[in-house]
Amino acid sequence: MAGNNPFHLAWFLQGSSIQAWGAPWTGNISEEWMSADMFVDLARAIERAGFDYLLIEDSIYVGQNWQNSRDIFLKNGMSIPRQEPTVVATLMAQATKHLGIVPTLSTFAYHPYLVARIVGTLDQISAGRGGWNMVTGSSDFSAQNFGMEALPSHDTRYEMAHEFIEIVTRLWDSWEPGAIVADRKTGVLIDPAKVHTIDYHGKYYASRGPLNSGPAPQGRPVIAQAGGSGPGRAIAAKYADTIVAHPKGVDAMKDYRNDVRQQMMGLGRDPDGCKILFLIAPIVAASQEEAQIRADRRRADAVANIDQRLAQFGWSTNLDLSGCDLDAPVGELTTNGHQSSLQQFLKRAGGKTLREAIVGYSTGGGSVDLVGTPDDVAAQMDEIMQEVGGDGFLFYLGDVSRKSVAEITDGLIPALQQRGLTRTGFGGKHLRDNLLEF
Ligand SMILES: Cc1cc2nc3c(=O)[nH]c(=O)nc-3n(C[C@H](O)[C@H](O)[C@H](O)COP(=O)(O)O)c2cc1C
Repeated sequence: MAGNNPFHLAWFLQGSSIQAWGAPWTGNISEEWMSADMFVDLARAIERAGFDYLLIEDSIYVGQNWQNSRDIFLKNGMSIPRQEPTVVATLMAQATKHLGIVPTLSTFAYHPYLVARIVGTLDQISAGRGGWNMVTGSSDFSAQNFGMEALPSHDTRYEMAHEFIEIVTRLWDSWEPGAIVADRKTGVLIDPAKVHTIDYHGKYYASRGPLNSGPAPQGRPVIAQAGGSGPGRAIAAKYADTIVAHPKGVDAMKDYRNDVRQQMMGLGRDPDGCKILFLIAPIVAASQEEAQIRADRRRADAVANIDQRLAQFGWSTNLDLSGCDLDAPVGELTTNGHQSSLQQFLKRAGGKTLREAIVGYSTGGGSVDLVGTPDDVAAQMDEIMQEVGGDGFLFYLGDVSRKSVAEITDGLIPALQQRGLTRTGFGGKHLRDNLLEF
């Protein structure tokens, strides 16, 4: 690849759904969303632009984190509807040839055998482009959809997740390379000596194996992880091929990356074996003025819709902040949900009022703010990556439409490619090969 410091790109899709309800340029999405065509088009567009993978976010409940009601979520289409990501992943895999497809499957909602089988099958049908975004969940409402009162505590969830991943990876390993002999002379399809049970009996899970869906092209499909807390980072350092993270600011990004790499080395892993991608929500337009107008509009929108912003924040942190005084300083808050998200919010809130804090948080644009022309934003991304040391960015657009996607794939990405910063083709056959290419 040309250029000095190439970096990786991935896309964070907040479910296939009625994205950006009410936003301009979303076509007839409210009628057409079920077919997932827009999201299949997205997969094609980002593949053409050289993204390594598309991560499909998931949550398995309807929010009720505002006045203990679902109304604000349903009326405004906030994180609802959400289609089953593994089904949509299959459509995306069929429509692409190089793009990695990484659906989210929560450890509390699936059994490890099923995750090994689903992701293994995705890897097979995509010829080695399958991945799994491993999350532990955050909402008691989601737990109640599966017959539980509440989720286990945050740290217990990660303890359970260690066992969970152990089972998944052992099941993927339950087929030795070359197990399918397909010998027409002897009539033997599979060599029984190369397919093994795993006989795992843990504190939380057990599984016999072998995996009946057969071997995956990548052996072990790619594991993505997004934990920001101590236990979250530890599990990522142990198992992840890629991490998606949103520490705020260049120093925090650097610290996060150094910490995970240090932990990986402590575990005997090559730190370059895991690509850490930082969340960004760039606003790219033909001129700096136009980009700034849109950034200002994003902020004005947050100011005008404080309740929605707080409800959305409560949705991800398992809190209901509807009883809090908007104009008083943010007080003590604790959660059994995404802890690092809450801590980050509190850190940034400082002495601010809840109103000011949520506007800043919800318009913050990810790890760094990027607003400008394709050239300006490409130059900033270059600078940031040089300072952080790697490994790339995870794009998130709150207003997914074919137009907003094109601003990235046909506006910003060519500017990055011209600088030799991102790929113009795929060197590897499998998703992991592409992640390890540079
Ligand atoms: C970019 C990104 C994507 C995430 N995607 C999901 C998701 O799809 N589903 C989910 O339940 N949690 C998701 N999370 C939450 C993480 O799994 C994790 O719980 C959160 O970052 C807080 O870290 P902690 O659990 O270690 O405190 C995501 C987080 C980030 C930063």
